[in-house]
Amino acid sequence: MSAFERDGFLVLPQFVSAAACDQLRERALQLVNEFDPQGLVSVFSTREQSRLADDYFLGSGDKIRFFFEADAFLPDGKLKQSKEESINKIGHALHDLDPLFSSFSRTSELQKLVAELGVRDPLLLQSMYILKQPRIVGEVNCHQDSTFLFTEPIDIVGFWFALEDAIIENGCLWVIPGGHDVGLLSRWVRVQEGGMRFQVVGSGSFNEEKLVPLEAPKGTLIVLHGLLPHRSQANRSAKSRHAYTLHVKGGQSLYPADNWLQRPPEMPLRGF
Ligand code: FE2
Repeated sequence: MSAFERDGFLVLPQFVSAAACDQLRERALQLVNEFDPQGLVSVFSTREQSRLADDYFLGSGDKIRFFFEADAFLPDGKLKQSKEESINKIGHALHDLDPLFSSFSRTSELQKLVAELGVRDPLLLQSMYILKQPRIVGEVNCHQDSTFLFTEPIDIVGFWFALEDAIIENGCLWVIPGGHDVGLLSRWVRVQEGGMRFQVVGSGSFNEEKLVPLEAPKGTLIVLHGLLPHRSQANRSAKSRHAYTLHVKGGQSLYPADNWLQRPPEMPLRGF
């Protein structure tokens, strides 16, 4: 059994160069600079999960969209802080729509690793740029990525690139080594009336006492099995913690129509 099969994760230091990390970071900040949030005020200025916010999220599978921190807007629709400090995530088709993100996501090294992990006919499904701003709550609860990207059979692999040093203080990843043996606990599905909800599919629970931090110097790649429970805590430091994540599925697995992330027929998933 490989370490990946046994533990459900791999940590690969220096998988990408510091220069490649800086380039991606600069490109992400450029995208943020070029983005005009004015049209989105109505989408995000209300606290409740509005229909508009759901549609903005559900329609992002084939786009580059910008997601704000909770409470980023003042009641008058203006941002409380700078645009860069207000956005927590860019998603979800950076890897297909932006040339630099595409080449970062389609290196021969990554293609070789995906083959070694046993993913057959891989397809690049989803990408996210996570800004994890300083002193922002930005906590992500313990979850399995296959909850959000369900396939039959389950063959999702997540690739988490540290573009800056990720340490406990700035909200590095925490994982439960071997925790993928719990099986899938829930699915996040589209609801016919609109929106999304969790659907319970398993009876186990996460043993969160067993979470361990994975501190990752800049350039490290962390590989996550789709069933591995993981979380990240708030960034309590004064520094940002930028990361890029990419999810890959096998070409033969089934991808249900009630998964939140969908592609229109004219923009099918692509491989390496
Ligand atoms: Fe995740």
